[in-house]
Amino acid sequence: MSAPFYVTTPIYYPNADPHLGSAYTTIYADTLARYHRLLGEETLFLTGTDEHGEKMAQAAAEQGVDTQSFVDRMALRFRSQWEALELTPNRFIRTTDADHVRAVRHFWQQLYDRGEVEFRDYTGLYCVGCEAFLTPSELVDGNCADHGRPPEQRSESNYFFKMSDYFDWLRSELETNPDLITPPRFKNEVLGMIEGGGLQDLCITRPVERLSWGIPAPWDENYVIYVWADALINYLTGIGYPDDPQWELRWSRVHHLIGKDILKAHGVFWPTFLRAAGLPLYRGLHVHGHWLLGSQKISKSASNLVDALGLKDKYGFEPLRYYVLRDMPFGQDSEFTEEHLVRRLNSDLANDLGNLVSRSLGMVERYFDGVVPEKRAPGTLREAAARSAEGVRAGMQAFSTRNALEALFELVGAANKYIEDEAPWKLAKDPAQREDLEAVLYETLEAVRVAATLLSPFMPQTGASILARLGLEATDASLAGDVDWGRLEPGTRVVKGEALFPRVELE
Ligand code: MSP
Repeated sequence: MSAPFYVTTPIYYPNADPHLGSAYTTIYADTLARYHRLLGEETLFLTGTDEHGEKMAQAAAEQGVDTQSFVDRMALRFRSQWEALELTPNRFIRTTDADHVRAVRHFWQQLYDRGEVEFRDYTGLYCVGCEAFLTPSELVDGNCADHGRPPEQRSESNYFFKMSDYFDWLRSELETNPDLITPPRFKNEVLGMIEGGGLQDLCITRPVERLSWGIPAPWDENYVIYVWADALINYLTGIGYPDDPQWELRWSRVHHLIGKDILKAHGVFWPTFLRAAGLPLYRGLHVHGHWLLGSQKISKSASNLVDALGLKDKYGFEPLRYYVLRDMPFGQDSEFTEEHLVRRLNSDLANDLGNLVSRSLGMVERYFDGVVPEKRAPGTLREAAARSAEGVRAGMQAFSTRNALEALFELVGAANKYIEDEAPWKLAKDPAQREDLEAVLYETLEAVRVAATLLSPFMPQTGASILARLGLEATDASLAGDVDWGRLEPGTRVVKGEALFPRVELE
């Protein structure tokens, strides 16, 4: 049996509502999942909420509610937000789910039994925002670089995972497997963390008297498991670890998507946990940059919190989806502006794609009563379609939705140019050129069909809407073979319909 494609997002802290940052990784994972489904592969997509730890206990206390009711309410807000946006995880996991609690206890008991965990005294600088001890070299002017406030000095006895035993192993894994962490800049960053010497063994518990909101350590009920040592295990719980006999197969093709601020946890903690448990490493960790608003990261703890995600109500979710998937260079930060969104909407979607669809279908209505004409020998668009499909494949293989969309829009551009060059409106004037007119319009419709198929993981509703105008069901779409040139049956009735994307003016 072949392994499914398995993609994960980080599980989000539900101490505030979803925003563009969390929506971005979820959209990105959704797009990958849809793409692999279209290839005909079995696909698993996991997202959810990270509900333990001080952050959540504090947020609940501030609202004067008990922590469980708080996380129940907030997790539902995440879940229903993703559902409303038609994002398609196979499972929405919560770290308070009973199977996750069991998986975490099983995992850490195993490490404890193997002698990987030790009881020690510790004093360090703790940032509640990060839920982590920071090293002095990670501070900027005495403050946590991500949260802009000073960490607290804390001393306590705790259980430690002997993480440093695995640094040599991790270094050699990173050096021999160039695709493990992409883009390569982040692999180098992890190597730098190891070389920098700031990393030590990892404190994996919190005393219950200080924090009871967590999963009890199975070997000592005076402690709960540290939130990162709990949260990372979700990637295993989500595929049935430790009981479902299928979980190891599902694990063998796992790809994690994360933002760069949680690189240390995924690039250092997680691989070493897995290694210590005798489990194989993930196949790929793919790291994206941050959306900036002005020059600051958009996040719930930043004071510039803006509901950028709210722009979906103004412009539609699919244009927003297109904009974020198309504009952010993989691994780099990107500035989010309404102006950029509107520019993409007007130029790529309204002008290029929208016009292609309305022109080509409009001409079929005008010259052929809305019926797909005869197939003739394929012209130049067939090759353009194959090239774009290959470019989309390469982009998605490299986890770059931007490159994939660039390749896709080359087909849209080529089809628009083809129409200009062939000028069907001139052919239509001469009855002797009827066959040429058929050939040109059939060719154009096929390019539209292939473009809509390729587009559907990125913009599912738009893809389906274009296919429906061509008389096809969204479920007919497939990328399992080649682009299958010539699939559109002559005689099929097509409709031009409303403009896909009316141009908008920025107020
Ligand atoms: N709970 C942890 C993850 C545990 S995974 C086992 C966490 N949660 S978070 O809610 O704070 O952040 C989740 C993700 O959202 C991170 O990948 C983070 O990079 C991403 N984003 C938050 N703000 C962002 C932007 N402004 N831009 C892009 N993504 C950002 O960390």
